[in-house]
Amino acid sequence: MAECEGAKSPMELYEKLTAQGEQVRALKTAKATKADVDAAVQLLIKLKTDYKQMTGQDYKAGCPPSENSVAPDNGPAAGGADDEDTVDPWNVSTNNAKGVDYDKLILRFGSSKVDKELVDRIEKVSGQKSHRFLRRGIFFSHRDMHQVLDAYEKQKSFYLYTGRGPSSEAMHVGHLIPFIFTKWLQDVFDIPLVVQLTDDEKYLWKDLSLEDCHRFAVENAKDIIACGFDVNKTFIFSDLDYMGASPEFYRNVVKVQKHVTFNQVKGIFGFTDSDCIGKISFPAIQAAPSFSSSFPQIFKGRKDIQCLIPCAIDQDPYFRMTRDVAPRIGYPKPALLHSTFFPALQGAQTKMSASDANTSIFLTDTPKQIKNKVNKHAFSGGKDTVEEHRKYGGNPDVDVAFMYLTFFLEDDEQLEKIRQDYASGALLTGELKKLLIETLQPMIEQHQQRRKQVTEEEVKQFMTPRPLHFNF
Ligand code: TYM
Repeated sequence: MAECEGAKSPMELYEKLTAQGEQVRALKTAKATKADVDAAVQLLIKLKTDYKQMTGQDYKAGCPPSENSVAPDNGPAAGGADDEDTVDPWNVSTNNAKGVDYDKLILRFGSSKVDKELVDRIEKVSGQKSHRFLRRGIFFSHRDMHQVLDAYEKQKSFYLYTGRGPSSEAMHVGHLIPFIFTKWLQDVFDIPLVVQLTDDEKYLWKDLSLEDCHRFAVENAKDIIACGFDVNKTFIFSDLDYMGASPEFYRNVVKVQKHVTFNQVKGIFGFTDSDCIGKISFPAIQAAPSFSSSFPQIFKGRKDIQCLIPCAIDQDPYFRMTRDVAPRIGYPKPALLHSTFFPALQGAQTKMSASDANTSIFLTDTPKQIKNKVNKHAFSGGKDTVEEHRKYGGNPDVDVAFMYLTFFLEDDEQLEKIRQDYASGALLTGELKKLLIETLQPMIEQHQQRRKQVTEEEVKQFMTPRPLHFNF
């Protein structure tokens, strides 16, 4: 039904339902024909069914959907082909070789699709060609991006917030995705950025000392700085340092803590009675940077500056919770742009993860290690023999080397030609892997060079609470 197809989020569907309810009332008041009233009622019923399917709740006039009403357990959906898709901050897994079903995830999480209209709009408002991550559907889902752009067009600026959980010294290539994109957003919109390093989170979740987590935070900050962020517009902070140093930040943490129950975090994050209490209250700490008043040195105490969070969709549970709480504590809801996952070398059934060295290409890997890992571990969509491959062609949709190229090869035409050649059998698996190796080696070498040039003084500068160059 055309009316429902347009509704991409529970809120949009709720608004359509409200409008349709009014339409039915208006038709009845105007004593319209029975056929007209019946058609309008049928549409109302269909919208209510869709709403229940999307949110798991009955539509109630005057009660907009809450963020947590959508797939609160964030676990596998009941029934359907994506039963096994698990996406949360700790686990990503699916049985599908092509990866997570992201369209279904949008429905489960109640976010909206980044469609062509939005990509074109970002291009128009920023005045820059869209980043390849937008052109290729890698940043595929959003919350409230149109609102951010509406405000930006009216000279109301916003700020960016992203983060990293420093669980080890070495980050992997997947971790770069949100940072590469955030850097592009900072450049094209010319806005400030705050980067949270959750060393407290990693201490609570992993068997690591506080000192190690803090040290990893500083080491990871060097990788983040090496992505090219503007020191005049970027504040990077360790929770262990900033929580204690900023009364405003801690006040926001406490406000969030007061408005979320144990039941809610159990529902959203799957905490159990045997999880330590630090974990249970941690989501409030990841929520706090979404509010501009947490950074008085940057925003001069203003509470109303809109926040935009680029991240992979595994972090969404934190921000569903944040968006649910925000209006209740008098703050704007943060907007989000979600990316798909950079897959593990073994295939798109899971994301690249730092806990298994063979699944990942690290930012510290040498050219030789990159070559060996790709050749040895990258799952191939090719056929068993060269003869068969030439005859039937390969499957780029499940081929990890091809997937990686979609993230990093800039030239759209070249990428499309590789896809066609691989699918037709003209390009062999070994040749495709070689193309990937030749793309990754210089990219990672350049990152390592830039990281080497980051001085302790520079890290200190980025990590010192201070005013940024930002006029509002
Ligand atoms: P962490 O350290 O697990 O991940 C850091 C960022 O990288 C994204 N990410 C990936 N993106 C694409 N492909 C992958 N394979 C992949 N693996 C990780 C994550 O989504 C994240 O954006 N709790 C957070 C730290 C954090 C944060 C934030 C992240 C605090 N505040 C705000 C994003 C936004 C964490 O442990 O991230």
